[in-house]
Amino acid sequence: MAKRKKIFAANWKMNKTRDDALSFIYEVNTAIPKSDTFETVLFTPSIYLRSLVKRQEDMKIGAQNMHYLDKGAYTGEISADMLTNIGVSYVLIGHSERRTYFNEKDGEVNLKVKKALEKGLIPVVCVGEDLKTRDSGKTNQFLETQVKIALMGIEEKDIPNVVIAYEPIWAIGSGKVAEPKDANDAILFIREQIKKLYNKKVADKVRILYGGSVSPGNLPVLLEQPEIDGALVGGASLKVDSFLALANTFLAK
Ligand code: PGA
Repeated sequence: MAKRKKIFAANWKMNKTRDDALSFIYEVNTAIPKSDTFETVLFTPSIYLRSLVKRQEDMKIGAQNMHYLDKGAYTGEISADMLTNIGVSYVLIGHSERRTYFNEKDGEVNLKVKKALEKGLIPVVCVGEDLKTRDSGKTNQFLETQVKIALMGIEEKDIPNVVIAYEPIWAIGSGKVAEPKDANDAILFIREQIKKLYNKKVADKVRILYGGSVSPGNLPVLLEQPEIDGALVGGASLKVDSFLALANTFLAK
């Protein structure tokens, strides 16, 4: 089985002014380890995407959201063509904050994944249970449904271009990282669902990341888990020093 290339994904959410973003990129450009053993993807507020695409040297730039239609009267929305046209290559889809605060449902997530793939963007599809679901022992059932609907109607040939981020909601921004073994098990379970829907060959190609309170302190153990293909990091990706510490941890793996 070919080794899956790891992904260090940083999600800035709604943080940083343009000045902050530009000084961050200048500092990181000179200091980030150059490596082809992993890739770094920075998900920035959409208003800075173009500036950062132009200025980054070794990173991919991703959007935090997009609409599933090509164009039309959808005030405030951004289409896949608009993203690819300015050099964006990745897009986050169905982050739990989008699902919770903007009422995104699994069906909409599916439409967005399909549109991203059709337009040549790599979708990073976020799934993950809340605490209530976990405490009632229904995590697997919940993940099975989320994965099944997110991938509905997607052809086998496109599946290796899908990235999944397993982000238990209770771990996001809480400082409570999942136990590495539990994260590994959940990711293995997600891979098994892809195998059930398609086959082992494609399931083995899909990169599945862990997200939720990842820090330079806990990343080494997470990356030791065989099923974890990288991390989606929020808070700890905002400062240059911890961003670089995370990147260097990937380099060491
Ligand atoms: P966190 O966020 O690292 O701040 O927990 C992760 C995410 O929401 O992707």
